[in-house]
Amino acid sequence: MKILCVAGARPNFMKIAPILKALDHYPEQVETILLHTGQHYDFRMSQVFLDQLEIRKPDVFLNAGSGSHARQTSQIMVEFETVVQNLQPDLVLVVGDVNSTAACALVTKKTGIRLAHVEAGLRSFDRTMPEEINRLVTDAITDIFYTTSEEAGRQLLKEGHHAEDIIMAGNCMIDTLRKLEKKADQSSILTTLDLKAGEYALLTLHRPSNVDDRLILGGIADALAHIASHLPVVCPLHPRTKKKLGEFGLLDRLDRLENFVQIEPEGYLGFVKLMKNARFVITDSGGLQEETTVLGIPCLTLRNNTERPETITQGTNILAGIQKDDIIREAGNILRGKIKKGRIPKYWDGRAAERIAEHLISL
Ligand code: UD1
Repeated sequence: MKILCVAGARPNFMKIAPILKALDHYPEQVETILLHTGQHYDFRMSQVFLDQLEIRKPDVFLNAGSGSHARQTSQIMVEFETVVQNLQPDLVLVVGDVNSTAACALVTKKTGIRLAHVEAGLRSFDRTMPEEINRLVTDAITDIFYTTSEEAGRQLLKEGHHAEDIIMAGNCMIDTLRKLEKKADQSSILTTLDLKAGEYALLTLHRPSNVDDRLILGGIADALAHIASHLPVVCPLHPRTKKKLGEFGLLDRLDRLENFVQIEPEGYLGFVKLMKNARFVITDSGGLQEETTVLGIPCLTLRNNTERPETITQGTNILAGIQKDDIIREAGNILRGKIKKGRIPKYWDGRAAERIAEHLISL
């Protein structure tokens, strides 16, 4: 079986890495082709992850790059169609919910090829989120659904999919975390940034709904300034966020704060080290909600909803919303020692990719 595996943006790499490795165990049955769409292209958004996660050089690279949603998605589609026609894979495997996921899914099905989606069935029920549209579009035409939670499986059943096509595999992102956790422990980033374990907050922010709006981003910046008066706030800045903070005149203000530590987007190992040793994490990322749950680190999610509810019902995640006062209150609770204890959801055990590979070779 020839399987074309697709990755394109930063959060895809942690998911595709263990799947490629797991499929390598079946050289007689499976040939894998790795395609990188080029949605993310900066060294710090892409190559550093390929290097640190030991992902082989992509067999095919599409130079999609940035652009509006329509431009980026269509660019990937046009180029991907030629690749699929030339390579004639038996199955295309997409992961996550980025534009590359939906673009390649659409082309795959229109070319009559079987489609597998890893991390299927997640829903925020918020259709203003580009990722929710990507999830809905991808799952509507997927043949094989690999899910990270039972809730996701139930959602797919509600949407009319068949139980035999839904496989509760677990969380591939956590496979990568478990595999590289020890190596991440050796990162010297805390020393480099002069930080002490447990005595700083880690912040990531990049969602358009938070960073593209001057008022919302201004409110969040106010909350951060307040939190930074209690402990250092380390922030690897996503290119989009940096651009917007600059545009809205907020970057200088944050930079003037003694305790605001702005750094470039960090590679995987250094970032895991930062996450594992943080007093708490503040984020609007999907993946971080999951990783902090597994690491047992309190997480404040700056959103009003999440497609990953098990991080709240079982894990350490709290939806803090996007209002300044709410964020300050929740951060204050953590600083006063009111810490949410969590447990690790089922099958977030480092073996999800093995389950996916076992299932794929049985097709
Ligand atoms: C994308 C995903 C989002 C994911 C995030 C992780 C979609 C719709 N969104 O958002 O789900 O959580 O990746 O980072 O697919 N840029 C660079 N260098 C790069 C890539 C991007 O400077 O290597 C800048 C460009 O100005 C670009 C902007 O970041 O326009 C946004 O990039 P894009 O890939 O469109 O979306 P993300 O915000 O990264």
